[in-house]
Amino acid sequence: MRVLITGGAGYIGSHTAVELLSEGHEVIIFDNYSNSSTTVPERIARITGGPLTCFRGDLLRPSDLDLVIRDQGIDAVIHCAGFKAVAESVEDPLMYYRNNLTGLINLLDAMAEHDVRNLVFSSSATVYHASGESPYQEDSLVGANNPYGRTKEMSERVLADLVASDPTWAVTILRYFNPIGAHPSGLIGDDPEGIPANLLPYVARVAAGELPAVQIYGDDYDTPDGTGIRDYIHIMDLARGHVLALLENREPGMRVYNLGTGRGTSVKELIAAFEAANGCVVPSVVTARRPGDLPVVYADPTLARQELGFTPRYSLEEMCAHAWAWQRLRQG
Ligand code: WQD
Repeated sequence: MRVLITGGAGYIGSHTAVELLSEGHEVIIFDNYSNSSTTVPERIARITGGPLTCFRGDLLRPSDLDLVIRDQGIDAVIHCAGFKAVAESVEDPLMYYRNNLTGLINLLDAMAEHDVRNLVFSSSATVYHASGESPYQEDSLVGANNPYGRTKEMSERVLADLVASDPTWAVTILRYFNPIGAHPSGLIGDDPEGIPANLLPYVARVAAGELPAVQIYGDDYDTPDGTGIRDYIHIMDLARGHVLALLENREPGMRVYNLGTGRGTSVKELIAAFEAANGCVVPSVVTARRPGDLPVVYADPTLARQELGFTPRYSLEEMCAHAWAWQRLRQG
């Protein structure tokens, strides 16, 4: 298939591009490089040896997108372009609604205009309501507690209403839990601007001596070691989930899947796993809880396993080892 990946130079998009190219599909990347490096496409090509087509453009400039979808013979779209930092969304909600919601609507308009109605949408476990219990199922109560999560929740509603109004659309929504790690080559990985908000990139930079110590946001949660528990999934497993979703996304209608391992890991356990996998020491200090953090969030991945044949393969140690390989290469 010829697949357009919006945000294809980003963390999720680039690893998904590698997986698609490795499976013999053709990839067209559309990215404004607001949160990714322009060197990523050439690194994807180095990993896969395959050509890929790239366009620099912005979803908020519909003409950019229209040309690509009109001229590139797209069979399907994987929509990864979007802002995704919770704290930033609290500071600047309008930037998040404009980029994530208007961007999606512009994409859908361009797809409909050119008769491309096959979409895989990047959503997040952040849509689930704080009152929910892990393991989260796809029909668990939805109700995000931050603007970023609400843009994903609203985007899912936009898609549901679109499919209800025009059943020729085939839409699959993928709710990611905590993607971490990097391609085993270390050539691509999670490369947030500035100080990482997420745990593992922060741990990697502490291990590399770029930051003094990991701040553990609270050790007084109702969990075995008092620290927050999450469902960490290797980015290459997540990328594989996108390929499987794409191949299954043929029937008109809308489907929702959790992409997680079904296993919970605490902050302290992840730090220990990183130290063990990489033979390094990662200093940490317990600080106050981060507002909005939930104690325990992990997936029930049954539906994706049953309907997509999705079975995550990588271990926590491999997630940590590949993240470290990426950290050392990105330092140059
Ligand atoms: C994981 C755990 C923190 C940093 C967020 C978004 C989610 C998705 C992934 C986009 C928690 C603790 C973290 C640190 C810490 N992003 N922590 N010190 O919050 O589960 O999910 O990123 O889709 O939408 O909400 O991920 O990595 O920030 O936190 O102690 O420096 O690590 O309290 O328990 P989170 P995270």
